[in-house]
Amino acid sequence: MGNNFLNLALLIIFHFSMPTFSMKLTTIHTDQSVLLALKDHVIHDPENVLTTNWSASSPVCNWFGVSCGSKHRRVTALDLTGLGLVGTLPPHLGNLSFLSLLYVTNNSFYGGLPVQLSNLRRLKYLSFGNNSFNGEIPSRLGSLTELRRLFLYQNNFKGVIPFSLAYLSKLEVLYLFENQISGSIPSTIFNISSLQEIDLSYNMLSGSIPSVPRDLLLLEVIDFTSNNLTGHIPKDTFDHLPNLKELFLSFNLLSGRIPASLFKCKELQVLSLSFNQMEGSLPIEIGNLSMLQYIYIGRNHFEGEIPKQIVNLTLLMVVDCSQNNFTGECISKN
Ligand SMILES: *[C@@H]1O[C@H](CO)[C@@H](O)[C@H](O)[C@H]1NC(C)=O
Ligand SMILES: *[C@@H]1O[C@H](CO)[C@@H](O)[C@H](O)[C@H]1NC(C)=O
Ligand SMILES: *[C@@H]1O[C@H](CO)[C@@H](O)[C@H](O)[C@H]1NC(C)=O
Ligand SMILES: *[C@@H]1O[C@H](CO)[C@@H](O)[C@H](O)[C@H]1NC(C)=O
Ligand SMILES: *[C@@H]1O[C@H](CO)[C@@H](O)[C@H](O)[C@H]1NC(C)=O
Ligand SMILES: *[C@@H]1O[C@H](CO)[C@@H](O)[C@H](O)[C@H]1NC(C)=O
Ligand SMILES: *[C@@H]1O[C@H](CO)[C@@H](O)[C@H](O)[C@H]1NC(C)=O
Ligand SMILES: *[C@@H]1O[C@H](CO)[C@@H](O)[C@H](O)[C@H]1NC(C)=O
Ligand SMILES: *[C@@H]1O[C@H](CO)[C@@H](O)[C@H](O)[C@H]1NC(C)=O
Repeated sequence: MGNNFLNLALLIIFHFSMPTFSMKLTTIHTDQSVLLALKDHVIHDPENVLTTNWSASSPVCNWFGVSCGSKHRRVTALDLTGLGLVGTLPPHLGNLSFLSLLYVTNNSFYGGLPVQLSNLRRLKYLSFGNNSFNGEIPSRLGSLTELRRLFLYQNNFKGVIPFSLAYLSKLEVLYLFENQISGSIPSTIFNISSLQEIDLSYNMLSGSIPSVPRDLLLLEVIDFTSNNLTGHIPKDTFDHLPNLKELFLSFNLLSGRIPASLFKCKELQVLSLSFNQMEGSLPIEIGNLSMLQYIYIGRNHFEGEIPKQIVNLTLLMVVDCSQNNFTGECISKN
């Protein structure tokens, strides 16, 4: 009785732990079957790269676009940039458990992003830029905590920017430009201290620009051009961006003044605020931003004098302050 019970128990344990065990024990053969599944999901391969090169008769690590780790010989990078591929991404991709780079930029993949991508916990570099992907950005991408670069630009993504992306605490570059993303910018997006560039331009984002709660010493580019952002630029924004080089906020519905703290951005090269509803004057401290090359502030309700100090900005190449209420000449440098 006791023995039978033990045997039964062992049998049950064996039976139920087996699948789990074999799933964890993935090998290069897992990687191969994943890539063959991807190949199956590609319906057009104009340069015959996958068709001829991704052959089961040669080792996976020698396949075009595939890189393997030197020690464990598992697929660590998959770069299929610019091959003109048409197809969808299979859920199997989530099984490439050693993958740290996945680039499929400049192809014609369509359909949604498989949620299984969120299983790729080692992923650092992810680009789906310039394809025809649609659907929503899976909020589970927020669990890819090793991500440095997330490129979803030039696709047909709809819906909102998942709040979870603000938890990607190692993120350096976020490019979501040229999609149809709506809703507001996650309010804590500027809590990511590793951020270097954020480009959300040419979407349908609304709401206000989130405040910057901490020093972002690496942030150089903010591009929110052509959305439906409203409200003021938060006063504290420029207190925390000592290395900001390019600020693009044109073609929105922003109101209010340029915060005087802008002069703290000593590295600023581009200030682009045209086509908004901003008012007030241009702070004279703008004359202290000696790196400025481009000032675009046309089509707003700015008034007062253009500070004379800008004549001393030796690198300045373009000032567009047309269609405002500035008194006197709008000094144009071209
Ligand atoms: C596949 O492409 C790789 C990289 O270009 C090349 O080294 C390899 O010889 C090719 N293999 C076959 C079977 O064509
Ligand atoms: C990989 O993942 C898919 C679904 O996510 C699953 O059906 C499949 O069995 C897994 N294993 C391999 C080797 O691809
Ligand atoms: C994508 O294609 C464009 C146009 O040919 C090119 O400028 C760009 O560098 C390509 N992107 C990548 C990541 O290769
Ligand atoms: C997008 O990729 C295609 C190749 O698939 C390329 O011809 C085109 O120039 C790219 N577009 C941009 C804007 O880079
Ligand atoms: C901001 O980031 C820190 C870690 O750098 C984290 O502890 C904190 O919870 C974050 N705050 C918000 C509001 O996300
Ligand atoms: C801004 O909102 C208006 C009205 O809702 C809409 O017609 C327009 O297309 C939107 N523009 C952008 C860039 O989202
Ligand atoms: C701007 O520069 C002038 C000297 O060119 C200096 O006297 C002034 O303190 C500076 N202002 C700020 C806010 O840095
Ligand atoms: C300029 O000021 C006048 C008078 O205050 C106002 O009617 C007009 O709308 C303003 N124009 C712009 C572009 O702000
Ligand atoms: C420009 O710089 C020169 C030399 O530093 C200074 O004498 C002059 O007052 C400055 N002009 C303006 C308008 O700030």
